[in-house]
Amino acid sequence: MFRRLYLRFKSVLPEPVREALSVLNQRFFARSTIRRKYGSWFDVDWRKKFRTLSEDEWKRAYDEVWSHHDNRCVEETDEEMILAALGERGTVVDVGSGSGTLAIRLAREGFRVTGLDVSNVALRQAAERARQAGVTIDWQQGFIEHLPFGDKSFDYVTCCHTLEHVKDLEKSVAELKRIARKKVIVLTPKQKFRLYAENYHTQFFESKDNLIRVFGLRRFECKEIDCIDHSNEFQGKAFFYVGNLDS
Ligand SMILES: C[S@@+](CC[C@H](N)C(=O)[O-])C[C@H]1O[C@@H](n2cnc3c(N)ncnc32)[C@H](O)[C@@H]1O
Repeated sequence: MFRRLYLRFKSVLPEPVREALSVLNQRFFARSTIRRKYGSWFDVDWRKKFRTLSEDEWKRAYDEVWSHHDNRCVEETDEEMILAALGERGTVVDVGSGSGTLAIRLAREGFRVTGLDVSNVALRQAAERARQAGVTIDWQQGFIEHLPFGDKSFDYVTCCHTLEHVKDLEKSVAELKRIARKKVIVLTPKQKFRLYAENYHTQFFESKDNLIRVFGLRRFECKEIDCIDHSNEFQGKAFFYVGNLDS
């Protein structure tokens, strides 16, 4: 309750003030907060060690995250924007689907949905939520860096608050583009790299250019948006990227 009020209060402050609060928070509380929230794999050293982890260790780390903490990020306003960007119905895969918030919403709206995540714990939570919502979704365990789907398997690919977690950004983006026929839709936090940070991100998107460059698509839209409800791992801003693949 207090945390939600604090987040609401923070969201109306000017960006430089939010930034300053966040620096203080991250500098003094990062180590203990991350461990408490995400489990023993994660501390401020995660960003030094993530490159050397095996896939099995990566998977176990994210299973632990999901056992500790409800890690959903996508907000209702994001869902509306994504639906508007998708347009006509078709097949969609949500990569890094977590506990299934977006996948379930898209299934309710009439899309044929697949959800992929590295964590089986997240997938089990997602499957249970989908069951309660009465929708059918194909849940798959896998890694964004090598997706278990053929080229152009889906009309649309969505990937929300996940690219900041990956080991290899170039490979991940190449995979998202490879499996999409029409559009790739991505959300990432706007965030500067800091050595001490209350997060366990591996990739940082300081400006739109980072995303635009890594996708390298000729036809795209990219805008900065607010993430009002999101906890204070970043300064309440994100980038919403829609890349068009059909020409
Ligand atoms: C912050 S959560 C976002 C979940 C969901 N998209 C949302 O917005 O609520 C990031 C997700 O990425 C998943 N993830 C991390 N590394 C991954 C990888 N290499 N391949 C696929 N998923 C991964 C995590 O298990 C987690 O579910």
